[in-house]
Amino acid sequence: MFRWLLREETNIANISSPIELFSKNTQSFIYNNQVNATQRMLDFDYVSGRQTPSVSAIINPTGADSFARFFFGAREILIPMYKTIEKAAKMHPNVDVMVNFASFRSAASSTEEALAISQILTIVIIAEGVPERSAKLLRAKAKSLGKVIIGPATVGGVKAGCFKIGNAGGTIENIIESKLHRPGSVGFVSKSGGLSNEAYNIIARNTDGLYEGIAIGGDTYPGSTLLEHLIRFENIPDIKMLVCLGEVGGNAEYEIAEAIKSEKITKPIVIWVTGTCSKAFKTEVQFGHAGAKAGSDVETADAKNAALRAAGAIVPTSYDDYDQKIRETYERLVKKGTIKPKPEPSVPKIPMDYAKALKEGLIRKPANFICTISDDRGEEVLYGKMPISEVFKKDIGIGGVLSILWFKRQFPAYAAKFIEMSIMVTADHGPAVSGAHNTIVAARAGKDLVSSVASGMLTIGPRFGGAIDGAAQLFSNAYDRGLTATQFVEEMKKKGEPIQGIGHLIKSIHNPDMRVTIIKEYAKKHFKATPLLDFALEVEKITTAKKDNLILNVDGCIGVCFVDIMRNEMSKQEADEYVHMGALNGLFVVGRTIGMTAHFLDQKRLKQGLYRHPWDDIAYMTE
Ligand code: ACO
Ligand code: LMR
Repeated sequence: MFRWLLREETNIANISSPIELFSKNTQSFIYNNQVNATQRMLDFDYVSGRQTPSVSAIINPTGADSFARFFFGAREILIPMYKTIEKAAKMHPNVDVMVNFASFRSAASSTEEALAISQILTIVIIAEGVPERSAKLLRAKAKSLGKVIIGPATVGGVKAGCFKIGNAGGTIENIIESKLHRPGSVGFVSKSGGLSNEAYNIIARNTDGLYEGIAIGGDTYPGSTLLEHLIRFENIPDIKMLVCLGEVGGNAEYEIAEAIKSEKITKPIVIWVTGTCSKAFKTEVQFGHAGAKAGSDVETADAKNAALRAAGAIVPTSYDDYDQKIRETYERLVKKGTIKPKPEPSVPKIPMDYAKALKEGLIRKPANFICTISDDRGEEVLYGKMPISEVFKKDIGIGGVLSILWFKRQFPAYAAKFIEMSIMVTADHGPAVSGAHNTIVAARAGKDLVSSVASGMLTIGPRFGGAIDGAAQLFSNAYDRGLTATQFVEEMKKKGEPIQGIGHLIKSIHNPDMRVTIIKEYAKKHFKATPLLDFALEVEKITTAKKDNLILNVDGCIGVCFVDIMRNEMSKQEADEYVHMGALNGLFVVGRTIGMTAHFLDQKRLKQGLYRHPWDDIAYMTE
């Protein structure tokens, strides 16, 4: 896709340099993860109507291979990141540009590395302060390989509608204002990036726009010179006029004057050498750029402007009529028919970033999450409306915290104490029960605490532990329908369903469960009324008459007592909803977390190895 210039045009023996550095398909690497610059390049690509983003990969020398997230228009895309240029090049053989954001310390070595990779033809060095000796060596190396370096100390440049280097051209609004999203007929080159942006704007307002603009950088020894880019532009048929900004110091502008005289540059060229004000100073002034200082009279802006004017360049009388000269030159070319203005293409809109739009009050959206129980946005976390410091000042205990977070109100002391008792009695029931057993097996299999506890937790359900809600629901439903205990037991028997909250594998009326006794006695003593508990105890009388292990078990007792609390502290409807949601089994989950964690720690402390179930404890199929 490149055409090549011959040696005479670049001053280097037997080597040709590319004319077109960028196209609408150019793919690049960004060296160092410059998020904003990369996103600006992608936004430029999008408004330019590129089909593919111009950044293929990011070289992130201090990180591992991974991906970075960016937007291409409204779409989120992943750009691969590689630790080395070598790997990136291997993975993306179509990349021929590297925008090097390395610091001045590593710019030279990373550029050298990139020069050694044959596919990379253009390298832009952004860093300021690259040692002059390194810059000279890099230029020589690039020249000998027929490659191009733009910079150091540059913002880069832009090929309108095709490819933008890093931050060149500024924000997306500026890009569109300066019509950089589509090509015009003007080739522009300067040392300064800031003045380039200014010039792009002037060019957009006075001509059909920029074709390509390059800022070569402000150092004394740039990787490529003003003249080299002008010669490239001379050889690009779509560029019809040249615009250049020179600078006090050095003799690059004399090279341009010579090229005009020897007709290496034949296209009309509007040029102004900045720094004419230096004569107002008594001593030599160093302007912003390292190279912007006149070492002798010939290096002054005035001398260079005069030489360029004499050579035939279009040189304004001051920067004030630079735009006028550009406009006149453009209009002349239009009149001659050299330039045929084209209709403006429509510009795709870049969606505004969500955070920015939200901040500016331009958009709103329903939240994906709703939370009504806690808030950590302020100075201290709130449980309901209570700051955590207040939780401790008032010493509301775990029962108080749980009642605020689960039931969105602070239960009175008798109920908060009941919650704590429920957690205490359900904390553990020895190693033989399903949950503890599973935790132990998982811990011995080398699983971590969370996995081991989760393994035990998964046994909580309607037959074991998780019968609290089932019991609360069945008993309150029967009670609300006005069934007698006998009618309820009969009904369940007919359905063939066990009554949740009734029955225990080892406990019975002869071997009572002390946990149930503790809960029952507390309820009787401290609750305002216990209609559900009373009903359940009637049911127990009937079931234990059938079989002595069909007692009101710990799940059943907690379940009915909790309904008695809730019906006292909230509406019946709200209480039923909590039971329906399955809130009460949460008490077992909280309690058993204590016990299962204890079993996990116990196994680890005892350094118990892998558990294997004995064959003689398993019944196998007959052979
Ligand atoms: N309601 C009514 N009858 C029952 C119940 C019950 N909950 N449980 C057992 N029975 C009856 C059975 O129908 C059976 O009757 P039958 O002899 O006339 O056929 C008899 O009692 C024995 O049944 P099994 O299934 O052998 O009872 P087992 O003693 O093995 O079961 C268990 C104990 C699992 C607790 C059982 O009673 C049950 O499923 N209960 C309901 C769930 C429950 O509350 N689980 C929590 C237990 S406590 C805890 O985990 C902390
Ligand atoms: C428990 O608390 O998990 C038990 O009552 C179950 C059991 O089998 O003892």
